[in-house]
Amino acid sequence: MARLLINNKSYLVNEEADTPLLWVLRENLQLTGTKFGCGGGHCGACTVHINGEAVRSCQIRVDDIDGAVITTIEGLSTSGDHPVQQAWLENQVPQCGYCQSGQIMQAAALLKNNPNPSDEEIQRSMRGNLCRCMTYKRINSAVRAASDKIRGLS
Ligand code: FES
Ligand code: FES
Repeated sequence: MARLLINNKSYLVNEEADTPLLWVLRENLQLTGTKFGCGGGHCGACTVHINGEAVRSCQIRVDDIDGAVITTIEGLSTSGDHPVQQAWLENQVPQCGYCQSGQIMQAAALLKNNPNPSDEEIQRSMRGNLCRCMTYKRINSAVRAASDKIRGLS
């Protein structure tokens, strides 16, 4: 059993110890903005924040994160206006959209830790998040735009 604080709400999760966090989010709590891609830690579609760090929720056992603070795409901002989300909209990043919540969560964690990353730092942070629609160029532009917003430059 694990107690989790997810998007500022407290949940007592009573699942098998090795149940992945991704399953709990999607199946138990209906937080379906976090996507199942590969299930093996390779694609980043399932990225959420645990204690402020971007992690692959398909690789996290619930019993290993008792007491953790978790943020999903639904909780990134109360009205969808986080600077990263604004930049994503303005740069029309998504194509099919499937990978995009993971991309946004990865970018938001990067910019929280490093509000003014270099192009190389952006690419290094984002390269584990795969996009079958090849939106990488727009993703990079949007991360840069979000950085400007966060720093009050736009
Ligand atoms: S679904 Fe978790 S990394 Fe692909
Ligand atoms: S927008 Fe389609 S997989 Fe990334």
